[in-house]
Amino acid sequence: MKKFSFRIYTLLLFFGLSGYLSAQQNIENRIEEVLSKMTLRQKIGQMNQVNARKPDEKLYQQIRNGEVGSILNAEDPVLLNQLQKISVEESKSGIPLIFARDVIHGFKTIFPIPLAQAASFNPKAAETGARIAAVEASENGIRWTFAPMMDISRDPRWGRIAESFGEDTYLSEIMAAAMVKGFQGDDLSNPSSVAACAKHFIGYGAVEGGRDYNISNIPERQLRNIYLPPFEKSVREMGCATVMTSFNSNDGVPPSASKFLLTDVLRGEWKFDGVVVSDWASIGIMVTQGFCENKKDAARKAANAGMEIDMVSACFIDHLEQLVKEGSVSEQTIDHAVRNILRLKYRLGLFENPYTDLESERKIYAPEHLDEAKKAAEESFVLLKNKNNILPLSEQIKTVAIIGPMADAPHDQMGTWCFDGEKEHTQTPLNALKKQFGSKVDFIYEKTLSFSRDKDKSRFAKAIDAAKKSDVVLLFIGEESILSGEAHSLADLNLVGAQSELVAELSKTGKSIVTVVMAGRPLTIGREADLSDAVLYAWHPGTMGGPAIADMLFGKSSPSGKLPVTFPRYVGQIPLYYNHEKIGRPAKKNEVLLNDIPLEAKQSSLGNTSYYLDAGFDVLFDFGYGLSYTTFEYSNLTLSKDNLSKNDVLQVSVALRNTGNREGCEVVQLYTADIAASITPLVKELKDFKRITLKPGEQQIVTFDLPIQKLAFWNIDMEKVVEPGKFDVMVGGNSVDLLKKRFTVN
Ligand code: BGC
Repeated sequence: MKKFSFRIYTLLLFFGLSGYLSAQQNIENRIEEVLSKMTLRQKIGQMNQVNARKPDEKLYQQIRNGEVGSILNAEDPVLLNQLQKISVEESKSGIPLIFARDVIHGFKTIFPIPLAQAASFNPKAAETGARIAAVEASENGIRWTFAPMMDISRDPRWGRIAESFGEDTYLSEIMAAAMVKGFQGDDLSNPSSVAACAKHFIGYGAVEGGRDYNISNIPERQLRNIYLPPFEKSVREMGCATVMTSFNSNDGVPPSASKFLLTDVLRGEWKFDGVVVSDWASIGIMVTQGFCENKKDAARKAANAGMEIDMVSACFIDHLEQLVKEGSVSEQTIDHAVRNILRLKYRLGLFENPYTDLESERKIYAPEHLDEAKKAAEESFVLLKNKNNILPLSEQIKTVAIIGPMADAPHDQMGTWCFDGEKEHTQTPLNALKKQFGSKVDFIYEKTLSFSRDKDKSRFAKAIDAAKKSDVVLLFIGEESILSGEAHSLADLNLVGAQSELVAELSKTGKSIVTVVMAGRPLTIGREADLSDAVLYAWHPGTMGGPAIADMLFGKSSPSGKLPVTFPRYVGQIPLYYNHEKIGRPAKKNEVLLNDIPLEAKQSSLGNTSYYLDAGFDVLFDFGYGLSYTTFEYSNLTLSKDNLSKNDVLQVSVALRNTGNREGCEVVQLYTADIAASITPLVKELKDFKRITLKPGEQQIVTFDLPIQKLAFWNIDMEKVVEPGKFDVMVGGNSVDLLKKRFTVN
C-alpha cells in the first residue's frame, strides 16, 4: 500500500513538475517571440513606469507609442481598463500594462501598521491580511503592490519604522515571507493575486540618525548577516516577483546603481528572475547624490548595474536609446530587463486577461475582512503595564472617563501609508466602547486635546472633572498618523503637544489611569507609564482598532502581542536593539551614575563599562516583552542532545504553564547565542517562536526543532558557515527572562 501511494505520488510529482516546467518553457518561448518583434524604443518603454494620478492626453499618447510599461497611483478600475485598452489595442506591440500601487497594510480594509503586525508574532495573520489587501486591490485593477517593506529598523526616529517589522532579522524574514505569500497567493495569474515587492533593497532602515533619505554605512558582512536575509527568503523561497531599490547610498553607492547588489547578489547568488524597480525617482536623484553627473549618466549606471524599471524619473525613456546607440549600454542589457518584465506580465496572466472584471462580486469591506482586521489588531496590542491587574475592566464598573485626542481619531488610527483607507469606515475606540459596553457602563467623553500636537490646555479642567466623576480613566494618547511614515522622522520621541502634561494632571486626581497609546513607532513614554496604572500599546491599529481595543479593555480578548522593537527610555540611547554584538566591557548594572560622582572627582574611566551615566543601564521595554491578562511559567528546558554535528536538528523543549486564572496566548521565543566565533557574535538572536494558547492551569510541553544550519552566519572569510563551538539556547516569554542551556557543535 505504502509503495503504491509512493509511486502515485512520484508520478503526480513528475507530471506536476513537468507541467510546470513546460508552462515555464512556454512562457520563455512567448517572451522570445514578443521580444523579437519589439523595436528598441518599445523595449525601453517597458522599462518606464509613470505616475498617473491625473492621466492626460500626453499619457495616452505615450501608451499608444509603447513608451510606458507600468503605471502607478491610478486606482479607478474604469480608468485602468481604458488605459489598458489603449496599450493592448492601440500600441504597436500590444503589450499589457501593469498597474501598481502602495497597498501596504490593507487597501480599503486597513489592517494594523506592519510594525504592529510584527508584534503579533503571527505570520498566518500577516498572510491573511495581505491576501485580503490583494483581493480588495485587485478588484480595482491593481496587480502589483510595493510591499512588504522588510528594512531592518533599529531607529524609531525613522518614521518608516512603522512600515517595517522592527529590529529583528528573523522576525522580519518570517513576517515578510508571510505577506509575500498572502499578496501573491498560490498562483500569480489568478486575477486576485498581486505581485509583491521586497523593498527597500537595501539599508534604508539604517539611515544615519534616522533621518529619512540619508546615507547608511553597512559593511558587507553585516549586510549579509542582518539586512539581506528577509530579502533572500522572500526572493528565493517565496518567489517574490519584484524587488525595489532604496534611496540611501550605502558605503558610498546608491543601491539603484549597485552591480554588486542587483547583479551579483540578486541575480547571481539568488537566481532572481523577477523584476527590479527603482524607488520613486531614485535613479534621477543619483545626480543630486553626486553619484552621477546628469540623468543620462544615471540611466547608464543604473541600467548597467541591473536596474530594470525606472519609477517616474524618466531617465530610461529619455536616455537609454541614445546610450545603446553610443554603445555604453548594450542591447543585451535591455533585452535582459525586458525579458524579466514580460515574464512578470505573463506570470500575472495579463496577456490572457488584461482587463479588470467590473461585474464580479465586490469584496471591499466584506464582513470577513473586517473580522480579520479586528483579530489582527487584537493580536498586535502589547500590554506594557498592568498594576494590580486593573485590566481587564469589569462590566460592573459604573462610570468611565474616556479622555484624549486618539479616542475618536478615525483618520489617525489607520496609520501611515494607506492611500485608500476611508475614515468613514473606521471604527474608533470611543464609538466601540459606547456601542459594545454602553448599556452597562456610563461613559463620559472629554477629548481635551483636539489632536496629538495640540498644546491648548484650556480644556484640562473639564477632563479633570470627568476623571473625578469616574471610577477609572481611559486615556487615549499617541501620535497622529502623519507623524510617522515616509519623510516623517523625529528627533524627539516624547509625546507631542500637551499630552504628557495631560497625563500628569490626570494622575493627580488619584484615579486609576489606563493609558492606550496609538502610535506608529516606539515613543519614550517612561514618565507617562510610571503615572499610569496600565499601558496598552495599540500602535495604529487600522479600520477595526476601536472594537478590538474595546473588547480587550473589558476582557473579551486577552493581550498576546510582544514588542518587535526595543523601546528606549531616551532618544540619546538610540540605536538600541537587543541583538547587538558582544562588547568587551558590558555594563554590570551596579556602576556609578551621574549623581553618584563626587565633586571634583579626578579623571578616571568611571565604571569601566559601556553605559550612559545619565540614562542608566536599562531600556524602557525589551524586545519580545509583553504581558497578558494571565501569567505563564516556564520550566524544564530540555535539549535532545548536547553534542551535535552541523547537519543535526536539535530538539528544544520547555514546559509552559498558564499560572493565572484566565485563558491566554503566549509567544514562546527561542534565542541562541554563539559563545565565540571568528567575528564578534551577537549577544543573542531570535531563531524561532510559537504562539501557544493555554487554559488556566493548563501545561504544555512546547517543542522546537532547531536545525543546526540555522546557526550559520557570514564569517571572517565571508563564507556562510556554522562554526563549531559552544552555543547557548534560551527560551522564554521575552528577550531577557530566559531559561538557558548550553550545547556544542562539532
Ligand atoms: C517610497 C516607496 C513607495 C514609492 C511609490 C516612495 O517614495 O519610498 O516605498 O513604494 O514611493 O509610492
